[in-house]
Amino acid sequence: MKILAIETSADDTAAAVVENTTILSSVKNTQLGHADWGGILPSLAKRDHLAYIDKVVNKAILDARCQISEVGAIAVTAGPGLAIALEVGISKAKMLATKYNKPLVAVNHIEGHLLSPLANKIDINFPALGLVVSGGHTELILIEEIGNYKILAQTIDDALGEAIDKAGRMLGMPYPAGPVFEKAAALGNPKKYLLPLPMAGREDRNELSYSGLKAAFGRLVSEVGTENINDLAACFQNRAFEHLIRIIKKSIEHFSLSTEHLLVGGGVIANQELRKRLTKLGVELGLAVHFAPMELTGDNAAMIGIAASFKFAKGLF
Ligand code: KG4
Ligand code: ZN
Repeated sequence: MKILAIETSADDTAAAVVENTTILSSVKNTQLGHADWGGILPSLAKRDHLAYIDKVVNKAILDARCQISEVGAIAVTAGPGLAIALEVGISKAKMLATKYNKPLVAVNHIEGHLLSPLANKIDINFPALGLVVSGGHTELILIEEIGNYKILAQTIDDALGEAIDKAGRMLGMPYPAGPVFEKAAALGNPKKYLLPLPMAGREDRNELSYSGLKAAFGRLVSEVGTENINDLAACFQNRAFEHLIRIIKKSIEHFSLSTEHLLVGGGVIANQELRKRLTKLGVELGLAVHFAPMELTGDNAAMIGIAASFKFAKGLF
């Protein structure tokens, strides 16, 4: 059954048509005006979602070579996200569901990222581990089965993507800094400056934290200046990823997990160095690591459609 999905939780106006986990179309308009504000400006996000929602939905339908009347359900991100941005997608989805008399599936944005590695894949067996690393979330999750989740570890302050964006800002990079930060880090020496490993000495706590690293990075930047941007980015990224890998390993030990699969999604998973480290971890621990396809790492509606397919099959609409 085909599902038309809509996502407007942040600065992407997105729509997609999926058939179970197969993506028939995926369209998005990424708003550019936020860079001047160093983050997402809610009023601007709402204005641009309103300007683009119809175009994006129509293109998703056209690209999938179908009609709205042919889809079995309409899905939409219901949260978390910016309320006035979410509202645009929710109104559109409700309007379409009413007009075409279709069931409406409300999807959690993080569940979308979590299940995005299942795109175009046959089923994997559960329980499985899930990792979501984005601008708003850094969570290691036990997927008992689809729809039944337990958070094993999460950040107590900044999300990983948020920390990278803030560190990038200190280096004069535009928002969101992620892709530029990755390029700079790839050219730098990760051992050039000593930065603290987050939560070192707090082995009793199975938590992620990036605000201390961010503060130490701020002090380092004011001390040494921004001449060696590549080395600075490499040192920050190295510690940030080292911490994440350590907490994943620790969680697996702490909860005595013997899952076979690790699903990984979210914007930060576009980073090749992080993919490399997670792949290495998978080999070390005998875990099959499934990454979201590159085009589904950032916000998109296809992941919302995929999550909705599972929810619909369970009668959750
Ligand atoms: O999943 P996403 O698009 O939105 C949220 O749900 O937050 O994630 C956006 C985050 C931003 O913080 C962005 O800087 C980061 O993902 N990001 C990256 C890369 N590409 C995007 N971080 C590191 N390396 C990248 N290549
Ligand atoms: Zn997201």
